[in-house]
Amino acid sequence: MAAQSRSGQHVSLGSHYAVHLPAPDDFAFWRERARGLVQCDVPPDRVSWIEPGGTGDLFAAEGPSRGDKRLPPPPADAPPVRASQRFLTIARSAALHSDPARFGLLYQALWRLQRQPRLMEDKADPQVRRIEELAKSVRRDAHKMHAFVRFREVQEEDGTPHFVAWFEPDHHILRAEAGFFMRRFANMRWSILTPRGSIHWDGEVMHEGPPARREDAPGGDPVEALWRSYYASIFNPARLKVGAMLSEMPKKYWKNLPEAELIPQLIAGAQAREAAMVAAGARAERARPATLAEVAQGAAACRDCPIADCGTRAVAGEGPEHAPLMIVGEQPGDQEDLAGRPFVGPAGQLLDDHLTRAAIDRGAAYVTNAVKHFKFTQKGKHRLHQSPTAKEIDTCRWWLEAERALVRPRIVLALGASAARGLLGRTVSVARERGRAIVLDDGAELWVTVHPSYLLRLDGAAREEQAALFAADLTAVRKRLGELAG
Ligand code: URA
Repeated sequence: MAAQSRSGQHVSLGSHYAVHLPAPDDFAFWRERARGLVQCDVPPDRVSWIEPGGTGDLFAAEGPSRGDKRLPPPPADAPPVRASQRFLTIARSAALHSDPARFGLLYQALWRLQRQPRLMEDKADPQVRRIEELAKSVRRDAHKMHAFVRFREVQEEDGTPHFVAWFEPDHHILRAEAGFFMRRFANMRWSILTPRGSIHWDGEVMHEGPPARREDAPGGDPVEALWRSYYASIFNPARLKVGAMLSEMPKKYWKNLPEAELIPQLIAGAQAREAAMVAAGARAERARPATLAEVAQGAAACRDCPIADCGTRAVAGEGPEHAPLMIVGEQPGDQEDLAGRPFVGPAGQLLDDHLTRAAIDRGAAYVTNAVKHFKFTQKGKHRLHQSPTAKEIDTCRWWLEAERALVRPRIVLALGASAARGLLGRTVSVARERGRAIVLDDGAELWVTVHPSYLLRLDGAAREEQAALFAADLTAVRKRLGELAG
């Protein structure tokens, strides 16, 4: 049997392909095979998608016992496969669902997308609806995992603490959610055991393990300190819908939550907090903090952007309350996040050297950052700095403006473009603005220069040249401070 393909070629339609997925959550594998099948013009009813442990398909006459080796290479002139970003995003989640029909369903949609590129916008289409339901149910499962995994501490032979949790996901979300736990518990050794598989983090590398049984996980109370520092912090009052929460929390989760009796109190507390937030009005009308201590507390509790969940803590500014000079960096780094103080790491040391040479007393200045939390990506044991986005800087401006309103410095020194954006609310070119004052709304002068970590990234002559320019900028600021004081 032969038919006209999308590329105009004739391909056999007699074949039935059995695609054996190496893992039930291997979306990348599905995507690659699905592309090949579309390019070979293989209609959905000629493909079986078989998960590991699946029984196979009696009708997949051509499907080899393992793998899908017989799929021919796509014709050279096969048109590109079309898949909207929206489809891929939803499909990536839906692929993790436990419904054995999901990969077939996704292939049907991909097949149809070639002729109906706007298919995913058709909310009445039963296949689109089903894919959306699958994706939603997977997202809900992931949310439950974030909220209800409870670690218990066990000692390894050498006495190192190891934190072990038992969780029963509905879907194949374990691997997809591993990164979430790795970022939050980067410095601990932990394992999450589930009936679908297990993951283990040794502080550096993630390992996967076989399915586990509830008896494999320790019983007893979850680790209190972890509960306090993490679970309470993710209990977001603004997002809490009691009815939805209770319906989302079937009995099977309750049995893993020895602190479940706390929930009524948490709900009550959350509702009070939410009421307080509502009473305070929208962010724009939020009362400005009256003291620097309130700024520090407010920034620590702030969850207005995703960075807030990144590091250990918010790092508040430090220095005299009415310092004539305010120095603003970008965001705390690794060491600042651990120490809870701005500019104490390598960039801070270089800044201190330059301030000393320019005869600026750091102790007399108020030192802070445009963004109060450390944004990073985890690489093994290391937390690598990531620049905040313009949106994140703009969100955190609220706290920087509050600090400036309280300290009322005569001069504000912005170290780098992120700091300058935090102060001006727009992108500025450091090269263009450095060496002269920009007058701010309250009459203070903003002086812009490079960030010391920029100098740290340079070598040799380039570093010397930039260090000299940085020194000249600091000297100009010191002179101007003298003029304003005199
Ligand atoms: N870099 C910054 O911008 N701020 C700090 O506090 C440390 C490094």
